Amino acid sequence: MKHLLKLYDLSAQELTDILNLADQLKYDKKNGLTHHYLKGKTLGMIFQKSSTRTRVSFEAGMYQLGGNALFLSSNDLQIGRGEPVQDTARVLSRYLDGIMIRTFAQQEVEDFAKFGSIPIINGLTDFCHPCQVLADLMTIRERKGYLKGLKLCYIGDGNNMANSLIVGGIKSGMSVAVACPADYKPDSALMQWAHANGSFVCTQDPLAAAAGADVVYTDVWASMGQEKEAALRMKAFEGFCVDDKVMNQAHPDAMVQHCLPAHRGEEITNEVFEAHADEIFDEAENRLHVQKAVMVKLMGGSAE
Ligand code: CP
Ligand code: NVA
Repeated sequence: MKHLLKLYDLSAQELTDILNLADQLKYDKKNGLTHHYLKGKTLGMIFQKSSTRTRVSFEAGMYQLGGNALFLSSNDLQIGRGEPVQDTARVLSRYLDGIMIRTFAQQEVEDFAKFGSIPIINGLTDFCHPCQVLADLMTIRERKGYLKGLKLCYIGDGNNMANSLIVGGIKSGMSVAVACPADYKPDSALMQWAHANGSFVCTQDPLAAAAGADVVYTDVWASMGQEKEAALRMKAFEGFCVDDKVMNQAHPDAMVQHCLPAHRGEEITNEVFEAHADEIFDEAENRLHVQKAVMVKLMGGSAE
């Protein structure tokens, strides 16, 4: 594994290895054991969109591993004034040991990997959010003890989260059910792949998708960059809220996951959110541990 551009690129074994290392790093941290695996190394973090969790967890994680992280807002980089990705990638590769990038087009992240010579980590694109889903899988496995055979249900927009959950869920041996409005389905090639490689359904009926689910997942109806569509989307997603009715269909011990930020009263009710807040904030915490594992795997260094 040279980069983390999308979960589709990882083997099931690579995925499990990341989760195992993340569990170990979390356990060690709780027991006061530090690992300066990335001493002297620098991660550049390019943000073309806002972030709370991704920025802070990568920065803190890098610090905990003995390295440094640079926050690079695209407004301040020459890339924001049109310097091509192929040049930016080659320049930054001469200074840094890894780059985390959050942007719009998946192609931009792929181009960074193509033209640069250091590991590239996708910190969210319009197409996918692999770091988030690694943290989700870590949290589900932590609470349920295993992933294979569990039913993961996603209700809402067929967006970057849906795309990554489908791939991460299927690669982990989960059965995946997605409920979204007809005009807001996940990526069609990914859905085809999911049908061919595991148990997958995409329906317009949230209650059917939630039936017997072990994990119920949702995300905002208007993602970053879609703010102007918010009113239209609010209408289109009517009936796709994770509420008590949905939870009553799920397994009685079902977990709720949300990548955050959450819009209570839209994709999830305040009641469901607060009843499952522990699980949701464990999920947010696990971004830190799982991304540390990804950085150690990609940016090397195994000795103190
Ligand atoms: N879940 C997530 O990626 O959060 P941020 O947008 O705050 O980074
Ligand atoms: N789908 C959301 C996820 C945020 C973490 C967005 O792209 O804005």
